[in-house]
Amino acid sequence: CESTSSHGTSWTVVSPITFTYTVTQTHDLLNPNNDTLLMGHIRDPERLEAFRSNTKPIKRFVVMDETVYNLYGSQVTDYLEARNVSYRILPLPTTEENKSMDTVLKILEELHRFGIARRTEPVIAIGGGVCLDIVGLAASLYRRRTPYIRVPTTLLSYIDASVGAKTGVNFADCKNKLGTYIAPVAAFLDRAFIQSLPRRHISNGLAEMLKMALMKHKGLFELLETKGRFLLDSKFQSTTGLRGKADPASVSTRLAIETMLEELAPNLWEDDLDRLVDFGHLISPELEMKVLPCLLHGEAVNIDMAYMVYVSCERGLLTEVEKLRIINCMLRLELPVWHQDFTFALLQKALSDRLQHSGGLVRMPLPTGLGRAIFNDTCDNTLYSAYEKWCDELSSGSKE
Ligand SMILES: NC(=O)c1ccc[n+]([C@@H]2O[C@H](COP(=O)([O-])OP(=O)(O)OC[C@H]3O[C@@H](n4cnc5c(N)ncnc54)[C@H](O)[C@@H]3O)[C@@H](O)[C@H]2O)c1
Ligand SMILES: [Zn+2]
Repeated sequence: CESTSSHGTSWTVVSPITFTYTVTQTHDLLNPNNDTLLMGHIRDPERLEAFRSNTKPIKRFVVMDETVYNLYGSQVTDYLEARNVSYRILPLPTTEENKSMDTVLKILEELHRFGIARRTEPVIAIGGGVCLDIVGLAASLYRRRTPYIRVPTTLLSYIDASVGAKTGVNFADCKNKLGTYIAPVAAFLDRAFIQSLPRRHISNGLAEMLKMALMKHKGLFELLETKGRFLLDSKFQSTTGLRGKADPASVSTRLAIETMLEELAPNLWEDDLDRLVDFGHLISPELEMKVLPCLLHGEAVNIDMAYMVYVSCERGLLTEVEKLRIINCMLRLELPVWHQDFTFALLQKALSDRLQHSGGLVRMPLPTGLGRAIFNDTCDNTLYSAYEKWCDELSSGSKE
């Protein structure tokens, strides 16, 4: 709409932007008979038909985490060869230390050299959360927005990093300081990748699952309490005869994704500051970057959650019994619950940073009982007494 004043004319533009994307749980993703990797992002039946009848070779640019490439590269190559795809696979060491603009630019140079049709040939990222975040950012920059597909290969990225819209890299020693909110066209999830993941990384992913359980779903919490160790031991692979409804791996991943999507979908650009998914993410970015590479993302998140559980207890939002149940569950999932570098000064710095960027209120998500939460601010005295109790009770048993 147009308005004119003595200073000039201005036009106000309101342009709602809609993102539509698909999150698909599948199996045998790399079996050449499975169409998902090449066509799973196409929702319109007419476009799909046109795609199937097209005789020209399909073109795909694929970025893979280097470790994942060593494990699954030949399967991906065989798949693309069998489907007569014209492809380029770019393996990269996508570690937290390399989660930078340099890596984004490297991808962009290779992508540009290879050449893709910007609207119809999505870039494919195959790897953990780091790989998916970096490639997502590269794709969202190339020609202002190139479609991309996420194929998560870690538990953490399976239930978390692949289902939302955020992309990003670290910058100026700050976690995910540069990034975009551009959703992938699709995320294809196959639990088979998780079987080669080291045990510590399974625990790491379980931390994000526990986050959703504590914030939103008591049933998921109880499942983690009773079956968490089994999930860790079995690496989320379904045992024979257990596929489907009664299988803890299927049930827990499904609940984690559903609760996550319920939170993310109405708030894809995070305009609403009341975000349950921020639980465990108030102090942890500061801690994670400070001790890099000692703590994995989920481990830092868990330490933050463990402290917040003490804050909740101190404020009477959780009973002592509930607090112990949560901490014991974390320990059984082999997650750290305390860290020496999580000092009170670090906590204050992280919270004051948040205050600056969240309209003057910290609005920290805090569990109230199991599977429910509120958003609230907490005074320094309570934060400190919770901190003291947390250190008293948990510091001695923790590895540093
Ligand atoms: N975009 C989002 O919404 C979002 C959400 C949560 C986390 N993240 C980001 O995700 C990152 C953490 O992700 P991550 O935990 O997946 O870490 P990661 O990507 O570093 O992967 C963990 C390790 O596992 C290896 N690996 C990956 N798949 C494997 C497999 N199938 N078998 C054996 N090894 C394998 C990798 O090489 C790496 O060494 C953080 O940078 C975090 O900021 C993003
Ligand atoms: Zn996280």
